[in-house]
Amino acid sequence: MINIGLIGFGTVGKGVYHILEQNAALISERIGCSIVIKKIAVRSLDTYINQVPKSICLTNDVDELINDKEIDIIVEVIGGEFPAYDIISKALNHKKHVITANKEVISKHKKYFFKLAKKNGVDIYFEAAVGGGIPIIRSLKVGFAANKITAFYGILNGTTNYILTKLDEENLPYEEVLKNAQSLGFAEADPTMDVSGMDAAYKCTILAAVAFKIDVQVGDIYCEGIDKLSLGDFEYAKEFGFKIKLLAFGKRDSDDTFQLSVYPTMIPKDHPLAHVRNEYNAVYIVGDQVGDALLLGKGAGGAPTGSAIVSDIIDCAFGVSQPVSRRNLETHFIKGYVTPFEKTDSQFFLRLLVSNETGVLEKVTRQFSKHHVNIEKITQRETKAETAELVIVTQKISEKNCLSLVADLKKTAAINSVISKIRVLKL
Ligand code: HSE
Repeated sequence: MINIGLIGFGTVGKGVYHILEQNAALISERIGCSIVIKKIAVRSLDTYINQVPKSICLTNDVDELINDKEIDIIVEVIGGEFPAYDIISKALNHKKHVITANKEVISKHKKYFFKLAKKNGVDIYFEAAVGGGIPIIRSLKVGFAANKITAFYGILNGTTNYILTKLDEENLPYEEVLKNAQSLGFAEADPTMDVSGMDAAYKCTILAAVAFKIDVQVGDIYCEGIDKLSLGDFEYAKEFGFKIKLLAFGKRDSDDTFQLSVYPTMIPKDHPLAHVRNEYNAVYIVGDQVGDALLLGKGAGGAPTGSAIVSDIIDCAFGVSQPVSRRNLETHFIKGYVTPFEKTDSQFFLRLLVSNETGVLEKVTRQFSKHHVNIEKITQRETKAETAELVIVTQKISEKNCLSLVADLKKTAAINSVISKIRVLKL
């Protein structure tokens, strides 16, 4: 029998409990012993006393779990940096294997945790921290282990993908869609973590650690959320044959230099990632041997995230009676540099509000010529008698060049405003 100490009993904690109960027979048959939740730690006993069966010890003292010699594995599902950081550190120092769904704490402290786990001869698993139910971490560590990973393109946030899908397909107001995502249990306690792109950025740095073996912090990478998009952007995207997705992007530039970023991206509507709808997540991997591969599944919610955690429990349980397998420990980080964002390049969708008068188009395109920016597509819609919307898709240019172009466009008298600037990625 393998005993679990579960810390947290919210949406994900309950998901873990239900899976272990519902699939108890098949799990014990698979690993040759049963998995039992021995103790659950929660902040408020009163809230949970009637939700947890009497056979499980409910406590508000995490040390009761960490000090329990019969508990082999600590599962942390409380989220956030603190007190999760202290709990995980302490559990590892007490030679407990740790399984966590916590992207923030793993993203920030991965290197320290991996070293601490190695020092104590235990392991730390975090499959549920990225892509919910999609086994992306294990796929990178085991399934794609023969490859040098050259790039990944991930839709890693269920809430924003749900919002983008509803805005695109149903033209529903943003606030209403966000509320739905919250009530469905996808959104973070503070949903600005989702819409600002920060949740996806944490996940992006975790993928970079596993795929590229580099220790990068979210502050090192460019991150833009979905909060600046408007319904008009979706209409033009449709017209131009694109879908807008919040992409977490990682690309190997050389052996020690990498592009890493998170931003809303227009992608061709026939690309497999364009078909990833609602709370689904997907990661498109490019390996030097396997070529392109796509993993797709539910990225949020109790059961999908619980599925990833229980798969970690099973993986860990296989090895509990044997020496720790080295396959899960990122003990060999290389020194990796992030390519400065202004040096990366992409195509841009630019939406301009211009005066509806003779010669405006010439003034606008003159700026493009001045900055050596080639135009791939251009379209104009009359909005009012005095103004028109001019939409341009550029060919590939650098971020730096685009910034100076946009700065000049903003200074051009005939241009009232630059409404949107969205990157286009032809994957
Ligand atoms: N808030 C996250 C999401 C939950 O929407 O994807 C899973 O990390």
